Amino acid sequence: METAYFAVLATIAVMGAGTLATTLRTAGPYGRHMTPAQGGTMPALPAWLLFESPQWFAFALTFWWLAPPVDGPSGVMLLIFGLWQAHYVYRGLIYPLRMRDRHKRFPLVAVVFGFLFNLLNGFANAYAVGHAAHLAGPDWLIDPRFVVGLCLAIFGWLVNFQADSILINLRGDGFSGYRIPHGGAFRYVSAANYFGEIVMWAGFALMSWTLAGLVFLLFTMANLMPRAVAHHRWYRDHFPDYPKSRRAVIPGLL
Ligand SMILES: NC(=O)c1ccc[n+]([C@@H]2O[C@H](COP(=O)([O-])OP(=O)(O)OC[C@H]3O[C@@H](n4cnc5c(N)ncnc54)[C@H](OP(=O)(O)O)[C@@H]3O)[C@@H](O)[C@H]2O)c1
Repeated sequence: METAYFAVLATIAVMGAGTLATTLRTAGPYGRHMTPAQGGTMPALPAWLLFESPQWFAFALTFWWLAPPVDGPSGVMLLIFGLWQAHYVYRGLIYPLRMRDRHKRFPLVAVVFGFLFNLLNGFANAYAVGHAAHLAGPDWLIDPRFVVGLCLAIFGWLVNFQADSILINLRGDGFSGYRIPHGGAFRYVSAANYFGEIVMWAGFALMSWTLAGLVFLLFTMANLMPRAVAHHRWYRDHFPDYPKSRRAVIPGLL
């Protein structure tokens, strides 16, 4: 199983390089960056429910059945398992159901790619957490990497959740176009949701201290940073009064 784990990590790294090349060119072909040339599409709600689902079922199946921790799950492993599942109940179920614009469509190619990536990522992170010696005992709970990582992950999650909510509320009156978002981390960056997402996975990589966590963080950055820069450029092109001091995704830097 260890060989499969490393093969999956290598595959994710290749997918990350391909994703970076694509997002630098097309900004991620969905939402405001979707073009008619992208082929088949499906409704956005089932698309999100479908392609996010492996993050919870692949993680759970690997952790409990395919490659469970040899001496049974420790308390730390169970805590990480619970946090992962809680996040993906939000991202894979609650978030899509909160989206206002139900007639939006999502490219099939992105659904297939997302499903495959999430399947591999769910497996890799569950295997890594279940087989990390440092996560087997309670000492890890007072290790600075765990404490700082957990604080970062919670902070990132809150920033991401608030930004998701601000964007959802911009269409609360039935409007289906785009408005300038204000409040929360949007005061500093155009892609406050992506800023929170990146901080959250940086925190997760630190608190779990596994190669799979690090690879997922790098993939998330490759996926979201070029798209954030494209969002930023798009806002500046479409809104003459767009706040000049805002950056794209990293406050004060990028
Ligand atoms: N870990 C990862 O690799 C990863 C990957 C992708 C997404 N995510 C997370 O999933 C969530 C959604 O991602 P996304 O790529 O769909 O984000 P997005 O492009 O910012 O769009 C988010 C939602 O808000 C709407 N929206 C965006 N800007 C708006 C504006 N100015 N006015 C009105 N509505 C606006 C979008 O509508 P349209 O669809 O019509 O544009 C979409 O429904 C984020 O929290 C993100 O962090 C994580």
